[in-house]
Amino acid sequence: MSEAQKTGVIRFYDTHPINEDEILAKAAACGASLDALTQVDLKDFDQDHYGGTEVLDALADAAKIGSEHHVLDVCSGMGGPSRWLAYQRNCRVTGLDFTLSRVEAARRLTHRVRLDHLVDFVHGDATAIPLPSSCYDILIGQESWLHIPDKAALISECARVLKPGGTIAFTDVVMRSSLDQSTEERLAAEMQTANIASAESYAALLEKHGCAVAAQDDLTGEWKDILVKRLEMYRSLRDTTVTKFGESRYQEYDNAYSHFVGCFVANKLGGVRMLARKVA
Ligand SMILES: C[S@@+](CC[C@H](N)C(=O)[O-])C[C@H]1O[C@@H](n2cnc3c(N)ncnc32)[C@H](O)[C@@H]1O
Repeated sequence: MSEAQKTGVIRFYDTHPINEDEILAKAAACGASLDALTQVDLKDFDQDHYGGTEVLDALADAAKIGSEHHVLDVCSGMGGPSRWLAYQRNCRVTGLDFTLSRVEAARRLTHRVRLDHLVDFVHGDATAIPLPSSCYDILIGQESWLHIPDKAALISECARVLKPGGTIAFTDVVMRSSLDQSTEERLAAEMQTANIASAESYAALLEKHGCAVAAQDDLTGEWKDILVKRLEMYRSLRDTTVTKFGESRYQEYDNAYSHFVGCFVANKLGGVRMLARKVA
C-alpha cells in the first residue's frame, strides 16, 4: 500500500460523519446517561457497516461465535461490532485498525461501556497483522476491505492468524462486473477504495490460502436500499459534520457518497457475505 493510499484512508476516517462525538450525542439524545452508558445505548450508532447489529448477529450466528471464542475483528473502526459481539456472546474480541483516531475512540467507547475486560484494540495494518500466528478462533470483517489494495496479502494474513479449523466470516463491497476506468478512479479518489474484489476473486484467494469456502451469499439486493437510506442519514448529519469538519468536507463527502450509492443502484457494485474454514 502506498503512503498516499494509507494517508487517504486515514484522512477519510479522521473526517468521517460517523465519529465518537456523534455516537455519544445520539445516545444522549435518546435519553442515555453518558456516565452510565451500556453497549445497548451505543449499538444503534456505533456500527459502521450496512445493516447494523441485526446483520452482525446473522454473521456471528453463521460463524457460530460463542463465549469460548477469541474473535479478531479486522478493520474494527470505532469498535462497535467488537463490543456488540462481546456484550451479546461474552466472547473475547480483539479489534485491529490502522487509523489511530479510530483505535483511540474504540478504546474510549469500550471503557465507557465497561467492556474492556473482554475487548481490546491493536493499531496495525491488516496486510501485516502485528499478531502471532494461529491464535484466533474466528475472524470477522465488515465493509472495510474495499480500502485494501493488496487483497492477497490481506487474506494470507487473515489465514495466518486464524487457528487451524477456525472460521473467517466477512462482508464486503464487491464489483459485479469489471468497472470502467473512470468509475474506478473516482471511487479510489473519493471513497479510498483500492482494487475492489469480486466475490469469485475472494473465494479463489481464500482457497489459495488454505481456507475452504463454506458459504457465499449475494447481499446486493438488500444493500441497495440500505445504502440509499445511509445517504439520507449522512445528509441528516449536515450541521454537525459542517461544524466539525467544515462545509467543503461535507460537500466532498456528499458528492463521494452519492456516486458510491449510484454504483450500487446501477449494479456496478454489490455486496457479498463469505464464510470459510481454515483447513486443519
Ligand atoms: C467502514 S470502517 C468499518 C469499521 C467496522 N468494521 C464497523 O463495522 O464498524 C473501515 C475501517 O477500515 C480501516 N482500514 C482500512 N484499511 C485498513 C488496513 N489496511 N488495515 C487496518 N485497518 C484498515 C479504516 O481505518 C476504518 O476504520
